Amino acid sequence: MTIPEVVSRALVDAKRIVVLTGAGVSAESGVPTFRDAQTGLWARFRPEDLATPEAFARDPELVWRWYAWRRGLVRAVQPNAGHFALVEMERLPGGPSVTVITQNVDGLHARAGSRDVVDLHGSLFRFKCAGGCGPVDLDGPEREELPACLRCGAPVRPDIVWFGEALVWEDLERAEAASEACDLFLSIGTSGLVHPAAGLPRLAKAAGAMVVEVNPTETPLSARADAILRGPAGKALPALLAACRR
Ligand code: APR
Repeated sequence: MTIPEVVSRALVDAKRIVVLTGAGVSAESGVPTFRDAQTGLWARFRPEDLATPEAFARDPELVWRWYAWRRGLVRAVQPNAGHFALVEMERLPGGPSVTVITQNVDGLHARAGSRDVVDLHGSLFRFKCAGGCGPVDLDGPEREELPACLRCGAPVRPDIVWFGEALVWEDLERAEAASEACDLFLSIGTSGLVHPAAGLPRLAKAAGAMVVEVNPTETPLSARADAILRGPAGKALPALLAACRR
């Protein structure tokens, strides 16, 4: 994939790069994107109808089993060339700092080795008491059955930001501060439909950063981006890394 000269120059000059990622960056690992059709026994459900507090209140066992299925999917895959290119970018001697702000809950950036990751929407592998007692440690083998909080007996839920829930204040503050302080903002593999994540490129642009979109298809950000790489993250990110190394 050819990197426009203006983007290559920005990569070489950048001191601080922020990368906003969505499900598209994990697609080439084999993780279905959020709006991909679901498969198997989950085909008849829409994620938007399961990833909500109402769905969990209505049928916590169903929602728990859906997340157990997703954890199984993610455990069976590996980070891809896109994830690893971001790790190499942050390790370049004298290179830029790289902050990854991800909407993904699959943990693949951290598994690839990225060190500065904001899990804006939480994690499939973190849990908390639905009754508000706080974090719950569930190490050991996958639990297919819905666990109960040992302190209060309420169901345990994934520590994921569901539709209609507020993001963790500190995570959003960190994401906004990084977006406002960066020289280069890469929006990769996200449909740009869900706020406040979708508003971060605007913050970066308003603060003077160059905004580059990596996505095979057009999104609401496309018209505002300074440059667009119309292709898969697994190809674009290694090409961006190579441009960094020039
Ligand atoms: N490389 C880059 N982008 C890709 C690739 C790829 N190989 N394959 C697909 N895409 C793009 C799609 O074109 C789409 O724009 O990834 C995007 C995935 O969009 P969504 O499925 O909407 O996922 P995402 O943007 O992460 O959703 C954001 O919305 O539903 C909530 O909390 C959920 O975190 C999720 C958030």
